[in-house]
Amino acid sequence: MNPVYAEMVPALAGSAVHGVEALVKRAEREFADLGHGDLPRWQKALAQLPRVEPLADLDHPAPRLGAPAEDPRALRDTLMALHPWRKGPLALGGVTIDTEWRSDFKWDRIAPHWDITGHTVLDIGCGNGYFGWRMLGAGAKCVVGIDPTTLFVMQWRAQMHFAGNLPNFVLPLKDTQLPETLGGFDTVCSMGVLYHRRDPADHLARLRQCTRPGGQLLLETLVIDQPGEKVLVPDGRYARMRNVWELPTPAHLAGQLEQAGFEAIRCVDICATTVEEQRSTDWMRFESLPECLDPADPARTVEGHPAPVRAVMLARRPG
Ligand SMILES: C[S@@+](CC[C@H](N)C(=O)[O-])C[C@H]1O[C@@H](n2cnc3c(N)ncnc32)[C@H](O)[C@@H]1O
Repeated sequence: MNPVYAEMVPALAGSAVHGVEALVKRAEREFADLGHGDLPRWQKALAQLPRVEPLADLDHPAPRLGAPAEDPRALRDTLMALHPWRKGPLALGGVTIDTEWRSDFKWDRIAPHWDITGHTVLDIGCGNGYFGWRMLGAGAKCVVGIDPTTLFVMQWRAQMHFAGNLPNFVLPLKDTQLPETLGGFDTVCSMGVLYHRRDPADHLARLRQCTRPGGQLLLETLVIDQPGEKVLVPDGRYARMRNVWELPTPAHLAGQLEQAGFEAIRCVDICATTVEEQRSTDWMRFESLPECLDPADPARTVEGHPAPVRAVMLARRPG
């Protein structure tokens, strides 16, 4: 099989990032070993993508990748084989993918608060790589994303088909699979991952390990915005999600970041997730946020918990 991640080595050359060879090796191994019942169908879809001129117009809510395809209907059908599309929107070969999430809303909450010009970025739990395009559009040098969900890696392959050879990578790895030698990124991001981790301190320690001394952390996660409580530990599901372990207050989260060895910790945004930001579309036909909120009181989830509120935190690893 052709190497998928070899380009990461030249893309990170001359930067402070170390442990790249081990990362590439691990990612190639996992990619060659991807297992999922739908994988043959997804691979067939990738093979059917039309040849178009590579193109990347990135600084848009829906990054435009690839020149328009000759047969947009056929392309739409092919891309639909990679349903459900959760993070976007994206415009691939002239076809706009209206994803479950308006991830551009999240981007707009983050972008005014950081400068990633020339940065190497590690994005842990990057989904299909949508934010990587936005980061390159904002001047990042190279974005390395990791995500263990096979479909999202396939969706990234589809995007690369249209974008050409750009330094936005999605590796099929969990945070716990990162090599111990990996580190030195100018910016490390973790968005929408912390509450899925049973051991948040372990996740934060990994984020610190991967950040260069003096580098920045961006942490985006669900919080509870209520005085009097430090954390909400859902008994069972939260907004119909099975794997939500703990939701802290922003103040408690800041303390966790300090304990993990970060400084200059600031909460730059707190925002309730709306049904305009997360909803079902043609490209994600399963249930979404509207079905997870109490119809009689949309400030509560169907389980009676406070409805989703998300915080954006910035912090620095001491130099
Ligand atoms: C809620 S989504 C967030 C995606 C994107 N970062 C965003 O903010 O829109 C959580 C992502 O984390 C990934 N994930 C779950 N456990 C992970 C782990 N241990 N390491 C890395 N990614 C993980 C999931 O596959 C999923 O794509």
